[in-house]
Amino acid sequence: MKEINIGQATAITSPDPLMLVCTTKENGSLNMAPVSFFMYSSFNPPMLAFALGKTANSGDNIRRTGKAVLVAPGISLRDVVMSYGSSTGSQKDKLKEIPITLQNVEGSDIQIPEDVRIAFVVSLEQTIESGDHYLYLCNIEKMVADESKEALFAWEGYAKVAPAKEG
Ligand SMILES: Cc1cc2nc3c(=O)[nH]c(=O)nc-3n(C[C@H](O)[C@H](O)[C@H](O)COP(=O)(O)O)c2cc1C
Repeated sequence: MKEINIGQATAITSPDPLMLVCTTKENGSLNMAPVSFFMYSSFNPPMLAFALGKTANSGDNIRRTGKAVLVAPGISLRDVVMSYGSSTGSQKDKLKEIPITLQNVEGSDIQIPEDVRIAFVVSLEQTIESGDHYLYLCNIEKMVADESKEALFAWEGYAKVAPAKEG
């Protein structure tokens, strides 16, 4: 065994989960950002947790509105996910710059991409400071899925998104 750093660790544990966090900005427009720091955190009630860098616009939106929809993006969104992950919604309208086909999800007024395998409508329960990130602990209000869609995962840390290989 050799000692490694956290960046190497995220590459070695990959493929890691990948979610697009969909939120509403202060001006009412939609923002999306990919997050691989994601986990379920309770069965009863259903809860999940994810961590975002402290300066992320998505985090500002969640703390302000208490709401988000997390979706597992389908493979058609491969390049879009990388683009949405390399700019911040506090400086630009990502959805206007790189538009995608959207759909409504029951239980939320936040729109989500059409190509998703699963969507979680969540409300913020608790914000926990976690080093240079905030950990958002959320109640899952509703879950919907389309298992015919194949999801993307994060590979090599944040460097690449691709489907997971089977067995
Ligand atoms: C594949 C991938 C995974 C990412 N995972 C995370 C993550 O778990 N936490 C995080 O803070 N940023 C993560 N990022 C970076 C954010 O998406 C990026 O900082 C984004 O600009 C934030 O956008 P916002 O400011 O509009 O919220 C990831 C980026 C990519 C491409």
